[in-house]
Amino acid sequence: MSALHWGIKASFLGYIRAMADGSVTAEAGAELQESGAVFPLAAAPSGDAGAGTSAGAGVPAASAHTTGSRRFRGTVRFLGHGGVLDLRIADPAVEPRAGGWVLSIRDPYDPDARVDLATIAAFHPSGQQCIGSGLALTADGADLFFGPYVEGTPLDDFEIVDTPPTPAHPTHK
Ligand code: HEM
Repeated sequence: MSALHWGIKASFLGYIRAMADGSVTAEAGAELQESGAVFPLAAAPSGDAGAGTSAGAGVPAASAHTTGSRRFRGTVRFLGHGGVLDLRIADPAVEPRAGGWVLSIRDPYDPDARVDLATIAAFHPSGQQCIGSGLALTADGADLFFGPYVEGTPLDDFEIVDTPPTPAHPTHK
């Protein structure tokens, strides 16, 4: 089993939590821990070439963690300002694009669509973990925050943690 551990953006959580009516809640499989949100790996949709496929040019150094899309499930919902602020970060996925890698989420305003929230500058694999660093909001991602953030605004690093199903002996992928 694998999970995405991600604080999303510490200053945004601080902003919400400082509001009298602000709340950050986890739904649909996600959990909130001290270090941030945890989104478990989603089952691969049928017909999805998914993990293990070659991602093409512009891909960060290949590793067992970065050779294909990783889709996670669950929702973190931010509420505040009497409901004027109501943002869902749902079903994040780490996906290759022509120029590199992105972190996408379900479109908060169209559940059938997805939005590339942020670009990912680099991956740092280490054992059963892989840190994604240098996350920067895309223009579409920045729009979800109604002004204070612009394209390129940094988000927190994330960590993908793989918990292997107790193999009989170590394997090398
Ligand atoms: C009644 C409506 C709203 C009011 C009065 C309001 C007010 C404010 C104020 C005063 C700040 C500065 C806070 C600080 O520096 O500590 C701020 C920051 C911010 N607001 Fe709002 N806001 C409103 C709605 C929204 C909505 C709908 C969003 C969408 C997600 C949003 C996203 C943000 C973000 C991302 C920041 C920057 C947080 C950071 O420091 O990283 N706000 N807002």
